[in-house]
Amino acid sequence: MSEINYGPLQQLIGTWKGDKGTDIAPEPNGEENNPYFETITFEAIGDVSNAEAQTLAVLHYTQIVQRSESGDVFHHQSGYWSWDSITGVVTHSFTIPRGVGVVACGKVLDDESLPDATVMQVSAEDTGFDGGIAQTSFMQKKANTTAFSQILTIQGDSLKYQQTMMLDIYSKTFEHTDSNTLVRQP
Ligand code: HEM
Repeated sequence: MSEINYGPLQQLIGTWKGDKGTDIAPEPNGEENNPYFETITFEAIGDVSNAEAQTLAVLHYTQIVQRSESGDVFHHQSGYWSWDSITGVVTHSFTIPRGVGVVACGKVLDDESLPDATVMQVSAEDTGFDGGIAQTSFMQKKANTTAFSQILTIQGDSLKYQQTMMLDIYSKTFEHTDSNTLVRQP
């Protein structure tokens, strides 16, 4: 069996923990700010071929997010990162328990200020042609996710991410954001 080349995803493999998470989430009368800690585990699961024309190297991950104050799990996410070595496209696909699924496509960015880092940016829109957002009719009507964007920076044993979900909720447009810096576990 030939060795699978995971390209930029190789550095993600493993277990990461971070306790400096910041979540800004919608409330009927404004927003709430939720400090959190989390564990993300990335596992290499091999490659897949599509239509005999595309080969993707794939990681599966689970993300478990807990409130700093109580330890309660208040966000749970599971999905895949894939990399196409021919086109360089990275795809982040995942679901969350609210009944929302996202396929966000993007690429590795050249960040001259961080020469030894790998920076990946992906995004999706609910009207997207390349990727997209699927959600239940309840969520479409009451808490519609219209866009998702994420930047992930891996530098040695540090993993930083920032993500924004544009929501239509409580009769307004809301920028739901999360960011954290995690450390690779030995
Ligand atoms: C670290 C990751 C995340 C955390 C900690 C988080 C946390 C939260 C919290 C605390 C709320 C408010 C819940 C409430 O007041 O009932 C919320 C709402 C929401 N989140 Fe997230 N979220 C995360 C990621 C995401 C992602 C990736 C998506 C979609 C792609 C998403 C979609 C939503 C939606 C649609 C709502 C509105 C539902 C509501 O408030 O009733 N979230 N989130």
